[in-house]
Amino acid sequence: MARSGKATVIGAGFYGSTTAVRLAEYDIFAEVVLTDIRDGWSEGLALDMNSSRPIVGFETTVVGKTTTTDGGGYEVIADSDVVVVTAGLPRKPGMSRMDLLEVNAGIVRGVAENIATFAPDAVVVVVSNPLDEMTRLTQLASGFPHSRVIGQAGMLDTARFTFFVAEKLGLPTSAITTLTLGSHGDTMVPVPSACTVTDGGRVRPLAEILTPSEIDRIVQRVRGGGAEVVALLKTGSAYYAPSAAAAAMVKAIATDSGDIMPVCAWTTGQYGISDVYLGVEARLGKSGVQEVVERTLTADELAGLRAAAEAVRTKSADVTGL
Ligand code: LAC
Repeated sequence: MARSGKATVIGAGFYGSTTAVRLAEYDIFAEVVLTDIRDGWSEGLALDMNSSRPIVGFETTVVGKTTTTDGGGYEVIADSDVVVVTAGLPRKPGMSRMDLLEVNAGIVRGVAENIATFAPDAVVVVVSNPLDEMTRLTQLASGFPHSRVIGQAGMLDTARFTFFVAEKLGLPTSAITTLTLGSHGDTMVPVPSACTVTDGGRVRPLAEILTPSEIDRIVQRVRGGGAEVVALLKTGSAYYAPSAAAAAMVKAIATDSGDIMPVCAWTTGQYGISDVYLGVEARLGKSGVQEVVERTLTADELAGLRAAAEAVRTKSADVTGL
C-alpha cells in the first residue's frame, strides 16, 4: 500500500508518544505529527523516532511541534485525516478517572477548539480521561458532527479482558474473543455472553469453560485493569495497551476499513439509549463512525449498559453545562 494521509497526536506523554510511534511503524501514513506544549519535547521525540526508521524499516515522516494553548504552532495539524487527543493529566495511585474531570476538561476544551480551527475536516479520536465525558466535551467544543468524534476505551478494556481470560486458560490471546461496553470507569460493562474460546478448532461460549465466579473475578479485574497498572507504576498510567488500541482505531479510520470495534460513540436509540457518548460497537471508516452496531444482550448486561449511559449523561452534564 502506498503511504498517504496524515495522522496527528496531540500530547506527547507516554500515551501520545507511544501512539505516534505505533502509527509511524504501520508505515501507511505519509506523515505522523506529534505535538506538545513542552518546549522542544515533541521535536526531540520526532527526531528520535525518525532515526529509528532504518532499523525498524518504515518511511513515514514524523514531525514534532511545540504548540501553545492559544493555538501557536497548530498550523502543523492542517489537513490531518485523524487527530488523536491524549492531552491532559493521567491518574495517580488511589485516584479514579473521574478525579481528573475538572483539570482535564479545561485542557481538552482548548485542544478541541484548536483542532476545529486548524483541522476542521479531521476525525478525532479522544483518549483523555474521564474518557466518555471528555469525548462529549471534545464534540461540543469542536462543533464537529458526532460521527467524527470517537473515544477510545472499549478496545483497551476488551483487550485486557481477552488477555486475562487467555492467561487464566493458558491459551493464546488469538483463541479468545471478549467484549466490554458501557463506560470507561465504574460502570464498565464486560459482556460475558459475547465471549468465546476457540480450543481444538471448536468455538465455545466462555460460560462453558469457566465457572460464573471465575468469570466474575476476571470481570472485576477488567473493571480495575487501569487502576491495577497505576498502582504498580506509582506515577502515570498505562500506555502500551492504550496506545495499541488508539492506533488500531486510527488505522481503521484512515484505511476506511469498515471494521467493527468497541469504541465510545454517540448513541441514537441503540439499546433504547440516545444522546449520550457510550461504549458500544461501531463500524469505523474514513468518515468516523459509519454505524453503531447493536447485538443481543442478556437482561443483566442491558441493565448495566443503561445504568452506564445514565451515569455518563449526568457527569457529561456537569462538565458541559448541558
Ligand atoms: C487506562 C487508562 C488509560 O485504562 O484509562 O489504563
